[in-house]
This record gives sequence, structure tokens and C-alpha cells, in this order.
Amino acid sequence: MNTRFWVIEQTESLDNHPAILEAAALLQQSEVIAFPTETVYGLGANALSEAAVSNIFAAKGRPSDNPLIVHLYDVNQLTEIVREVPTVAMHLLKVFAPGPLTLILHSNGSVASNVTAGLPSVAVRFPDHPVARALLQASGLPLAAPSANRSGSPSPTEASHVRSDLEGRIAGILDAGATGVGLESTVLDVTVSPPMLLRPGAISVEELQEVIGEVTIDPALNIQGISEEAIIAPRSPGMKYRHYAPAAPLWIVNGETTEDMYERLLTHVQHLHATGKKVGILTTQEGKSFYVNNGIDDSVVIKVCGTRGDLTTVARHLYDRLRQFNHNDVDIILAETFPTHGIGKAIMNRLDKAAGGRYV
Ligand code: TXA
Ligand code: MG
Repeated sequence: MNTRFWVIEQTESLDNHPAILEAAALLQQSEVIAFPTETVYGLGANALSEAAVSNIFAAKGRPSDNPLIVHLYDVNQLTEIVREVPTVAMHLLKVFAPGPLTLILHSNGSVASNVTAGLPSVAVRFPDHPVARALLQASGLPLAAPSANRSGSPSPTEASHVRSDLEGRIAGILDAGATGVGLESTVLDVTVSPPMLLRPGAISVEELQEVIGEVTIDPALNIQGISEEAIIAPRSPGMKYRHYAPAAPLWIVNGETTEDMYERLLTHVQHLHATGKKVGILTTQEGKSFYVNNGIDDSVVIKVCGTRGDLTTVARHLYDRLRQFNHNDVDIILAETFPTHGIGKAIMNRLDKAAGGRYV
């Protein structure tokens, strides 16, 4: 398949933008289009068409038991696909829509059955990116859209990531530069009371609690120490796979304090280096200074994703840096641990998945 590639230079006035109109027309013909959202690039198709949605699963190589998020333009469209909108959902949407929050609601059966993988519930979100919104508006469709990566690899935060994973497998890619948040939306199940966090994201548990009070956390989301996923079945089917992963094995290094973690990581690097391994370090500006000052040289591949002073910078660059390791042929990657408050919970969740739950 010949993949169309459209670059959108400025996102201010997208009404009747030719690229948006072409992409929308292809969506109406059951084709699959990659587009930027404020979190990561999505791979969209008409959520009302089983044939269109099956093209997403085929392009990604995604297991069919992993349901998709339906993206809508406007909160008023919710009643077209869900049975009811509970009060907590209304409160949350008033504060966080459009934005990086996905709600699990009771489906009314309108969306294609492969969107929900046969579940009675449906995941819905209202993306807050001008290109995503323009595409939703121009197509007039609810769009089922997972992240636009091949299944298992890190989600794409730039159009070049989508291109390297999916060129030739989808009808088109809308390129509007790097996404903002860098990690996928927060997923909250509001079919249960109290609501349960299924996937941490940029909208933190603390922020959700400020609006709706008690929020529980899916026990399968144990993100400290050894992953318990093997024994606890996750409620969000997508969370059970090794995910977001670079080619080389990744281990997370923890410690009593940040300094202690740096020291432990350094010791492991020196040890691995002595055994002839090519080592990668996933770190921050602060960590890099420490390793370089302690004798780590260019034979170790250091990737910096932002600063500990602002964890949103770490979130924004994490997937790109994980992908970059694939170009450096490292044998093993050591990643630092981050605090698990605010967006840190999402960062550690994705690292845990990329590591397959391996900690040292
Ligand atoms: O930020 C995002 O959410 C991005 C952009 C493109 O919008 N999309 C995204 O989609 O991350 P995806 O397919 O990669 O992740 C969807 C997650 C999976 O973990 C899936 O299992 C869960 O949402 N999910 C979808 N429907 C569900 C349902 N009915 N019940 C529980 N979990 C559900
Ligand atoms: Mg994904």
C-alpha cells in the first residue's frame, strides 16, 4: 500500500485544510490514518465499521483481545455510543475534556464489536490536539484509535516513528511534529464505584481525586518492585503485554535515594562493561552529569530524557529515547527509577512494561 504523507506546518486554521479533507475522505472509505494527538500519535479508523477497525489490528499486528479507545470531537456525541453518562463522568469531562483522559463507560452497542473486543464497556476520549480535532470534525466519525506503533514497540511521539513502524501498511500519516505529553492518556473505569485507575497518564490520580474524591488503583498496576501481573489479571487488557519496549533487554535500577540509585547504576555499568557488554543508560540531565563525572565515557550509550526537576520533560522524551537505543545496538539498557507521584506514576508504569518487570 502506498502511504500518503501530509505535513501540517501550522495548526491554527485547519478548516478546509486539503490534507485534513483528504484524510477524512479516506477514513470514510474505511481506510486507516495516523494522526497526532496531545499524547501520542494515534491510528484512526471509523469506529462504527468492523471492516475499518479490522484494518487497524492488521496494520499494528495487535492481538484482537485488546480493545481500542474511541475518540470523539464533542462531549454531546457520548450518548451516541454509551448507555449512560454517570455523574462522576460528567464532573470529570467538565474539567478534563478535551484532554488526555479516557473513560470506560457502558457501551450501548453502537460501535463495532472489534473496537471493544466483545466487552460490554467502551473506552472514550476527547483528544485536545488541533489536528485530531479537525480530523474528527471533518470526518464526522467516531474514530477508534490505538497508538500508531507496531504492537509491542514504544508509542510514537513523532511522525517519523509512525513512518518507520507503519509505512506501506496504512493509507496516510498526518505529520504535525512532536506530540506534547508523550505518554498515552490516563484510563479510568467509571463503570465501577469508586472509579478505578486502569492506566496512569498525564492526568494524575491526585488531580482525579480533587474532582471526584476516592479513586482506586487496579491491583495489576503494581509498579514498584517485582511486577505481580503474572498472578493478577489486569482489567485493562492492554496492560498485560510487554510493551513500549526497545529491542535490547531493559532493567530498572532503584535505590534508597536518588544518589544511591546513581551509585548502584554506576556499579552495574562498570561491571557489565568489564564483561564486554555494550551498555545503554536511560537517564536525565542530572544523572548524566553524575556518570560522566564518575568516569563513564563514550563507550557507554547515554540517552537523556529531560530533567528530574520537571517530570513532564521526562514523559515527553521517554519513547523517543527508548526507540533511539535500537539505532545503537546496545546489549542491555539500564534505566533510572522516578518518583511515582503526579506524572511519575505513568513514567514508572511504562518503564515497568518496557522492562517486563525486571528490577535490579
Ligand atoms: O493517549 C491515548 O490514549 C492514545 C491516543 C492515540 O489517543 N491511545 C492509546 O490507545 O493509547 P491504546 O489502544 O494503545 O491503548 C488503549 C488502552 C489499552 O490498555 C486497552 O486495553 C484499554 O485502553 N481499553 C480499551 N477499551 C477498554 C475497555 N472497554 N475496558 C478496559 N480497558 C480498555
Ligand atoms: Mg498502545
